[in-house]
Amino acid sequence: MSLTADDFQSIQKFLLENSAVRLASGKEYLVEGRLQAIVYKEDLEDLHALINEVKKNPNSGLSKQVLEAMLTNETSFFRDRHPFETLKTAIIPALLKNPDQQIRIWSAACSSGQEPYSLALLLADSFSWIEKPKIKIVATDISASMLEKCQSGLYTQFEILRGLPPHYLPRFFERADSQWKIKKEIRDRIEFRYLNLYEQWEGLLPMDIVFIRNVLIYFNSDVKMAILEKIRTVLKPGGYLFLGSGETPDGFEKYFESTDFSTSSCYKLTLP
Ligand SMILES: C[S@@+](CC[C@H](N)C(=O)[O-])C[C@H]1O[C@@H](n2cnc3c(N)ncnc32)[C@H](O)[C@@H]1O
Repeated sequence: MSLTADDFQSIQKFLLENSAVRLASGKEYLVEGRLQAIVYKEDLEDLHALINEVKKNPNSGLSKQVLEAMLTNETSFFRDRHPFETLKTAIIPALLKNPDQQIRIWSAACSSGQEPYSLALLLADSFSWIEKPKIKIVATDISASMLEKCQSGLYTQFEILRGLPPHYLPRFFERADSQWKIKKEIRDRIEFRYLNLYEQWEGLLPMDIVFIRNVLIYFNSDVKMAILEKIRTVLKPGGYLFLGSGETPDGFEKYFESTDFSTSSCYKLTLP
């Protein structure tokens, strides 16, 4: 049985209330494609039965599975390349001029971890002489299953082939059956934790660099503005904000100045 208009609206509402993610009309195929596997796994009658369960108990483990299945986790190592070049050639060397301060980088909405691991690999490769506590990387996401994968550090050959420079593989990964496991020395450079961007942000120290890429596109403009406002308070004055290519800090141009770092989608928080 395919999705009814009511079922679709219930999923739209559930997703919006729990993650702020908007699901546009016409995306019924996405709900069917992503939730059918849960129907089989949980031995439910059909999608309608699954959505009824979610409506009855939106906080259950089953509802969490539904939420996670509806989120888009697309990512890759060194995605868009330019942000990482900019960090390596300009931003990290500039921040290192202050010997006393810890450099803090936040990868918000880190999905399966390729973004924060790219940051950690860049540091291990190009700044190996820096003592590890000097640079701290925090990576967060709303999805418990994505965070579990991040912590495992396990990637398939297909995931490795998407963006990882080939010479990093023997240096920083080891074989784990049919997959590759990122070495502990790299995993230890990152603190992974749950954070819903739509809720209060707790326990974040002032950041020098925030990567929040390819997630604001899923939110409506009010939520996006509220998140940009919170980033303004988390970033140190003069700190750097990286958005996804094509994303812009609409309404916040006064605070986030465009930089001339090529095509990096990098903005600098203005000094007060
Ligand atoms: C397309 S991925 C982006 C991954 C990475 N930043 C990149 O650019 O490659 C979007 C991520 O946003 C996360 N996400 C969606 N809504 C969220 C929310 N309200 N709070 C935190 N993370 C969220 C999803 O779980 C998913 O992992």
